Amino acid sequence: MQLSRVGRILIGGLVMAACAYGYAAEASKAKVIRPGEVWVDDRGKEIQAHGGGILRMQDTYYWFGEDRSQSNDPAKRYVSCYASKDLVQWKFLRQALVLETPENLGSGAVVERPKVFYSAATKKFVMYLHVDDAAYKMARVGVAVSDRVDGPYTYVKSFRPLEQESRDIGQFIDDDGSAYLIFESRPTHGFFIAKLSDDRMTVERQMSFVEAPLEGGAIVHYGGLYYVIGSHLTGWNPNPNVYATAPSLAGPWTAIKDIAPPETNTYESQSSMLLKVAGTKGTTVIYMGDRWKPKELWDSRYVWMPLAIGEGKLWLPPPSPWTLDIKTGLAAIVGTEKAPLR
Ligand code: GAL
Repeated sequence: MQLSRVGRILIGGLVMAACAYGYAAEASKAKVIRPGEVWVDDRGKEIQAHGGGILRMQDTYYWFGEDRSQSNDPAKRYVSCYASKDLVQWKFLRQALVLETPENLGSGAVVERPKVFYSAATKKFVMYLHVDDAAYKMARVGVAVSDRVDGPYTYVKSFRPLEQESRDIGQFIDDDGSAYLIFESRPTHGFFIAKLSDDRMTVERQMSFVEAPLEGGAIVHYGGLYYVIGSHLTGWNPNPNVYATAPSLAGPWTAIKDIAPPETNTYESQSSMLLKVAGTKGTTVIYMGDRWKPKELWDSRYVWMPLAIGEGKLWLPPPSPWTLDIKTGLAAIVGTEKAPLR
């Protein structure tokens, strides 16, 4: 209660001219996003798309993520693919990638944070993965390819982007369709933003090196500015996630600032993606985060919330059930008379 009041006071000071909150949504229960609660797919099963990414193709959103189902073969690694037209109700398509032993890494292999890009040049779907050994020493990017969005994806190769160690990866597709990989590089104490080639099969060039040791990197282009968010390096444990802005992907980037009251540890979540939904009446930017349960990864939760964003400021409101009108682009906190962020 107190937190939310503090949050509101802080937020109240921000100029949120373009923030697209609607008022008093009377949406059906099924259309509500409930951050931190169990989120089920069309089969009634808990969605398995952890550390995920979203690819939009026409009016359909595809959500890819780590599939940590208890029923999975522990010797294999899985990436699931779900589809939705409203970002709320998700249809399970299939386990798009099932990897036996990538790079002969054996049963300790790490395959995390899948992100799928589409190449208009080759008409292929290209999945990027953080591929590692059990000790996280290999630090490479894995690439898998498919002719269909939902796979099956075929593992092709791994590499170190820009010859750098790469662990957590993030994806960004700009308004002009260009595609970027964000990757954390421990030895350089920062993260890189790199442009992907037209066929999406490799990293073409460095856009920025941001000297802030952050992972879970994500970017959105909003109101003429680029916003990057990320978390500090505390493994599965949440920490105060931060953001910076720049007029272009080449920078210069501002100093980092908190995205939420630091004592909440980003409401016990870690960033994985920023998704912009532009509609007929406004634009909503969604923070997608993971609330990890390291001992029960399959039951890790999703914290998705519409952000207060604009004029160089970005703020994550306290998680609370909300609705999204995909056509108008307006989001609304359930049960509120007023938009909470003004
Ligand atoms: C986190 C990272 C996760 C996973 C985890 C393992 O820092 O964001 O994707 O790698 O560490 O401890």
